Amino acid sequence: MEAIYLALIATLDIGDDILIPDPGYANYFGQVRMVHANVVPVPLSAANGFRMRAADVEAAITPRTKVLLLNSPSNPTGAIIDPDELAAIAEVAVSHDLWVISDEVYRAFVYDDDVRCLSIASMPGMKERTIVVDSFSKTFAVRLLHEGKVVVTPALGFGSRGRGFVRMSYVGTAQATAEGLRRMRAWLESL
Ligand SMILES: Cc1ncc(COP(=O)(O)O)c(C=O)c1O
Repeated sequence: MEAIYLALIATLDIGDDILIPDPGYANYFGQVRMVHANVVPVPLSAANGFRMRAADVEAAITPRTKVLLLNSPSNPTGAIIDPDELAAIAEVAVSHDLWVISDEVYRAFVYDDDVRCLSIASMPGMKERTIVVDSFSKTFAVRLLHEGKVVVTPALGFGSRGRGFVRMSYVGTAQATAEGLRRMRAWLESL
């Protein structure tokens, strides 16, 4: 949650619009209100398996749209955007000069070998406009840890606009995470 909030602070000004999948993770809506920006829903239809479509993203864009938020795999639907559609969404983001906040906290939970769950950051022209959000509390099933990571281009100036002003780290959980990662590595190397 903290990573998403920092990403919102870094990309949005008061009155800007952000595209959010609908249905989507409920906390996005409150966080956007906290930065005084406006949610513009991108409707996801059951007929399309609740997967976001580039055409729906494009149709929702307003003159004030600065950011597109993606969540694949999605909470609450579990939907995964397939690679071709993700590439089309990336083209929309590039052509409308949007930042993309890619909430990938459930990427470790794809069990079907035939399903490819890519990060939009891997698409052409996207690395420099995507903020990838990940959560150790999901990947390692420690729900209350609330420890995550954010991967971002230096061009955003995240150091001064976000992290420089807001410290969002709890020393105890950071140490626990580091220890968990160290043990996991040792376990993987022992296999
Ligand atoms: C889609 C999504 N993003 C972000 C979060 C927040 O993750 P964390 O609990 O690690 O802050 C959640 C938590 O449920 C979530 O479902």
